[in-house]
Amino acid sequence: MTSEQLQKARTFEETYGPRVPESERPLFHVTAGVGWLNDPNGFSVYRGEYHLFYQYHPYSTHWGPMHWGHLKTKDFLKWERLPVALAPDCEYDRDGCWSGGAVELPDGRQLLMYTGRRAQEENGMEVAYQTQCLAVGDGRDYQKYEGNPVLTAENLPDGCSPHEFRDPKMWREPDGAYRAVTVTCAADGSGAVLLWGSGDGFSWRFESVLERCRNEYGAMWECPDFFPLGGRQVLIVSPMEMRPMGLEFHAGYGTVCMIGSYNREDGAFSREAVQSLDYGLDFYAAQTLETLDGRRVMIAWMQNWATVACQAHGIRCYGEMTIPRELSLRGNRLIQNPVRELERYRVNPVVYRGILLSEETSLEGVRGRVLDMTVSVAPTSENGYRWFKVRVAKDGERETTVQYEPESGVIEIDRSRCGAPYDITHVRKFLARRQNGKLKLRFVMDRHSLELFVNDGEQAASLLLYAPESADVISFEADGGIVRMDIEKYGLEMP
Ligand code: FRU
Repeated sequence: MTSEQLQKARTFEETYGPRVPESERPLFHVTAGVGWLNDPNGFSVYRGEYHLFYQYHPYSTHWGPMHWGHLKTKDFLKWERLPVALAPDCEYDRDGCWSGGAVELPDGRQLLMYTGRRAQEENGMEVAYQTQCLAVGDGRDYQKYEGNPVLTAENLPDGCSPHEFRDPKMWREPDGAYRAVTVTCAADGSGAVLLWGSGDGFSWRFESVLERCRNEYGAMWECPDFFPLGGRQVLIVSPMEMRPMGLEFHAGYGTVCMIGSYNREDGAFSREAVQSLDYGLDFYAAQTLETLDGRRVMIAWMQNWATVACQAHGIRCYGEMTIPRELSLRGNRLIQNPVRELERYRVNPVVYRGILLSEETSLEGVRGRVLDMTVSVAPTSENGYRWFKVRVAKDGERETTVQYEPESGVIEIDRSRCGAPYDITHVRKFLARRQNGKLKLRFVMDRHSLELFVNDGEQAASLLLYAPESADVISFEADGGIVRMDIEKYGLEMP
């Protein structure tokens, strides 16, 4: 049965979604049907296709009572919109259906697990409770489970807060058992990741505390995911209130990737390496799935909570996801590259080899705002060069720059002059691995976003660009020496 709230959201989306001008949407990145989008949810395989749900408030371009929007795809680039999946229409989720995960049940149904939020007044203050809830469906319509909520304050280990208990990410183990991770706030006021187990997907029990923040990486954690990769185990979380640490972690809302090992017997995770997931300005709440051919693919919200008020006037649709990325490990580092399916959408190759560069230069055929471009540079002499710079989304007035200094290994992204309507954080620096001044930068641009992949995925950096699409000039410049540059640039088109 479709509730009144769900029907209202579906009708609203059907009416106003088609009125969002195409120019307001990227070409191949996921956006909301209409209105506001945040975290990816339920990113999973169902009946041979990839489903993606998302935190959704159709009625405005600002966060509000959360629904789950829904799409599916076969190749991570061409998406089919499906009707709104969940609305906050029950007592236990009346203030929002918050983030969660999905799995396919052996009987062919799809199971969603999400956080139900319910707020009430206590001593003149609003106090919210978060519980974990289920919904079952056929890939289009969902029924909330009559046994909801399935995890509440009573299931939490001592000291964990029922007010901060959310974001279940669920998967099925090779032996058929179900597992999920959630976050909570531990007694020390900082985040922890809890592991939960179930035989049937409906009845859940606490298994272990997988990892604790101990106020080291931010305070409260959000949106965990936990998966095997290359013989190791990876835990990702999105911490709030991060303190900056060198050039690895910036302040505020961040993302952290922990690589280690996992003992299934006692549910213990041993952390061996920690890094940022993304080094750009806009990236949060990442979630992964395993593809039908065994790849681990991650998608995230290409945004930062601190800058969500930076919206152009009059828009009808706000928020987009990153391009789905294939993950792998190289030693103790997480490697991420755009899904290989992107290559199918490349058109009009423009290739330059061995360009000798110093002064600011633009090259014939190398411009645009929807493109996949790889730039490799190397010094031409032993003295090297001081810096190398790529300017994109440029016109007479605006530009966004990516600069590399071989001496320090620092890459600096600067969009201060990109045309943003507010003075939000615009500059980010991070360290690339130094290789005698050799550097490879892959730029994936889709109208108002840039995702940068450094040295074949050793680092990724995502950011939104606020310049109008007409700002499409790209230029290259080196200082303090001549560099040799190779370029391979493709346009991207959706047939
Ligand atoms: C992360 C988050 C989640 C929560 C959701 C609410 O961005 O705060 O922890 O479930 O957004 O929309």
